[in-house]
Amino acid sequence: MKKPVIAIDGYSSTGKSSISKIIADKLGLIHLDTGALYRGITWFALQNCMDANDSINLKELFASLDQIELEFRNNDGELILYLNHIDISKQIRTPEVSDNVSLVAKQKEVRDFLLTSQRSLAEKGGIIMDGRDIGTVVLPNADYKFFLTASIDERTNRRYFELASLGIHTDREQVKQNLIGRDKIDSEREIAPLKQAEDATVIDNTSLTKEETIDLILSHIKKI
Ligand code: C5P
Repeated sequence: MKKPVIAIDGYSSTGKSSISKIIADKLGLIHLDTGALYRGITWFALQNCMDANDSINLKELFASLDQIELEFRNNDGELILYLNHIDISKQIRTPEVSDNVSLVAKQKEVRDFLLTSQRSLAEKGGIIMDGRDIGTVVLPNADYKFFLTASIDERTNRRYFELASLGIHTDREQVKQNLIGRDKIDSEREIAPLKQAEDATVIDNTSLTKEETIDLILSHIKKI
């Protein structure tokens, strides 16, 4: 029997990726954190495509896309993102990348570049993909779709502590403004905006633990 395709979309820091990873382990599925791919391209741009004003030169980035090879490697169950054979899993979580990723992700050239590979990974089934446009654009025929949301204060706390655990110490208000700014750009962009698919199950996990959110998702999957 073909294993399911599951799409998990939602706002920043609603726990999409860590929840998807645990569900993937429980159900024997592959997990793809699509946000990491956009972050990887942003990191590349910050290293290689800056203009004299210290802003990303988008034209230069578009011309360089074919030089970018993104690959996840499995290290003891943890997927590590490599860009052109370099481990960039830590670099993509830095505030500098977070501050620029939504600008990069709203570009058609960048989205087109990533779309085909995301879709081809799902062809055989057995995958859980998390992002912003998975249920609406990347995998509109997914077997199960979920849309995660939570209050901005709760999401700020989660991201703040996640960064601290990575050794990145930043200001809480700065974290909050980054989340608000990214959600705005992601929701208002022309191509593949962040929005709930009509047939997605919405979960507000403001007052749920990670385990409770996982149980809720699993109970929907068993029910359908
Ligand atoms: O999931 P994460 O917060 O790491 O995503 C970083 C950014 O990547 C988002 O704010 C959004 O701009 C972009 N993204 C996207 N489409 C996806 C996944 C992420 O535009 N499917």
